[in-house]
Amino acid sequence: MQILLKLKIILYFLIFSFLTPTNCGYANSRTPDYCLPQVCSYNEPISRYVQFPFMITNDSMPSFCGYPGFDLLCNNHDKLLINLPKLGVFSVEEINYIKQELWLNDPNNCLPRKLLSLNGSSFVGKSLFNPVLEQDYWLFNCSNDFFSSFDYLSVEIIGCLSGKNYGVFASPLDKIVKGNSSLCSKLGHIKVPTGSYDLKDFPLNLRGDIKLTWSQPYECWKCYMKNGRCGFKNYGGNLDVECFNLPRNGLSKPAIIAIALAFAAPLGLVSISIIYYVIKAVIYRRSHGSGVTPAIALQDNTHTQLQSVIVHGLDRSIIESYPKVVVGSSRRLPKPDDLHCPICLGEYLPKESLRTIPSCSHCFHAECIDEWLQLNASCPVCRNSPLRISQNNDV
Ligand SMILES: *[C@@H]1O[C@H](CO)[C@@H](O)[C@H](O)[C@H]1NC(C)=O
Ligand SMILES: *[C@@H]1O[C@H](CO)[C@@H](O)[C@H](O)[C@H]1NC(C)=O
Repeated sequence: MQILLKLKIILYFLIFSFLTPTNCGYANSRTPDYCLPQVCSYNEPISRYVQFPFMITNDSMPSFCGYPGFDLLCNNHDKLLINLPKLGVFSVEEINYIKQELWLNDPNNCLPRKLLSLNGSSFVGKSLFNPVLEQDYWLFNCSNDFFSSFDYLSVEIIGCLSGKNYGVFASPLDKIVKGNSSLCSKLGHIKVPTGSYDLKDFPLNLRGDIKLTWSQPYECWKCYMKNGRCGFKNYGGNLDVECFNLPRNGLSKPAIIAIALAFAAPLGLVSISIIYYVIKAVIYRRSHGSGVTPAIALQDNTHTQLQSVIVHGLDRSIIESYPKVVVGSSRRLPKPDDLHCPICLGEYLPKESLRTIPSCSHCFHAECIDEWLQLNASCPVCRNSPLRISQNNDV
């Protein structure tokens, strides 16, 4: 049974590491090469290049090149636009595919007027794009007499709403508390999506862009961080996305493992067959020679036989001595950037046991690395031999 299990695991590694493209795994042959980055005009900055999950729909691109709800369009002035449900059309100023941020403004260059037309409606929950923070402001329209009644007044006049004899400004208060408020009228309430606190003076002059973020599809940021391309698996048959066309310089971890396995597996199979026949021979001899029952003979002997036959496998007690941790519900990992087990390529989930090889600190699912180390005394990622190191330490 043990042998069968090991065989199964090796076959599983081989088949799955070669054939299954993982999320953000390595390149595969099903790359939809017709999903190319799009632009509204040839002098667009890279920050406005459109790629998955976004797609410019009034361009000739197959619909599976974009994720539902991420449609963009170009107007006849080559401006990149997005139509947010119930909020209207905004100009897309910048897309950050790694931080999953979308920076928007008013296509007519007067964001306060645009926000005013929304009557204070919130951006939250209207589309796949949501603000990190949203702040309430009120816009006031005051005559020049109001402003001249102050020696010093620190308000930013909003140019695109103001005239020669009056000025419009935004205030976080819903009434004018100082000065002669009869010289002012309230224009309305606006909600301003604000990205981060370091732009704290932005909302009052409303000259910056508003920032929205998206979280679905989630996986693409990892892919863009590695300079890969993100897209639908199966041409959008379902909403599963994958990463492909990762740069070839420097093999990805799964590729290294696949190659390592390609060399290790035949060796492992040969050793397993040898062990199998040795054990069979021992059982045969024991049961036919002495009066010991086969089951006990197996228990007594597999250990010593394994040690003498596969010199490249590690003893269970050595494996058990390697540090083991259980993933907490917060999923804090020993190495926060390694989210996947390099052996089975599965994600580390809460409550799963992880084991680290002390000599190189590579980390794996405990059950995966335990099986691996019993067959092969080297780290599947860096191929360092922990056995050799511990022996050197003994000397
Ligand atoms: C805001 O209110 C005006 C008038 O009350 C209305 O015409 C307009 O459609 C409203 N806009 C939104 C986005 O609700
Ligand atoms: C501000 O008030 C003046 C009159 O005091 C008016 O003419 C102007 O249209 C108002 N501006 C806005 C943006 O409502």
